[in-house]
Amino acid sequence: MDGNGRWAKQRGLPRIEGHRRGVETVRTIIEAAKGTGVRYLTLYAFSAENWKRPAAEVNALMLLLQRFLRSETKELVDKKIRLHTIGRTHELPDAVRTELDRALQATAQFTEWHLILALNYGSRTEVVDAAAAYAREVAAGREDPAQCSYEKLARHLCTAGLPDPDLVIRTSGESRISNFLLLQAAYAELLFTPTLWPDFCGEQFRAALAEFAGRERRFGATSEQLQPPA
Ligand code: IPE
Ligand code: MG
Repeated sequence: MDGNGRWAKQRGLPRIEGHRRGVETVRTIIEAAKGTGVRYLTLYAFSAENWKRPAAEVNALMLLLQRFLRSETKELVDKKIRLHTIGRTHELPDAVRTELDRALQATAQFTEWHLILALNYGSRTEVVDAAAAYAREVAAGREDPAQCSYEKLARHLCTAGLPDPDLVIRTSGESRISNFLLLQAAYAELLFTPTLWPDFCGEQFRAALAEFAGRERRFGATSEQLQPPA
């Protein structure tokens, strides 16, 4: 979800106004995802690097997040969407943590639809945390490094239990991954759109899915192997 700041700047508005509009887009896309049958939607809401921003912007983002969680929990429950988080959420402000825990608990019984919020998330810290957790298992004698596999390590990633993303969409014209699900998106289709996040809409989301559907995913195999002659 990129481009909130530029959206605001283009209109001579403060950056936070862009973030406010961005929250509206979040609601729209959650609705659109459910309507198209996408069962897992991950939103990169706050990266581990976003703490570098001016304190006023960080505080405003935290307040928006807190309000979003408070106002949207009922909506998630009504829609039977289970909330998950990835990232070092224990480092978020207490007020956000409280709302987060409430929302996680209120939606914990749902199994069909999943909304994953990446909060204070970064792939590198995630991998470091997973490696440390795995090392503790080795030290405790429960894991043998000679038997290590991606699957075993992935059990310690914060996405454990969640499927890998099939499609990653980045808005705002930047062609970067920015520390997002680097391992999990190893075979994801990437889609970059110039649209700024506040202008992104359900129609564009559906168009992205249509483009995704037209791509051939080979996962290292050949085209012929995927479509053997009839
Ligand atoms: C939203 O867009 C991303 C968040 C961290 C919430 P930006 O705030 O990065 O917008 P730009 O890149 O400055 O336009
Ligand atoms: Mg940005």
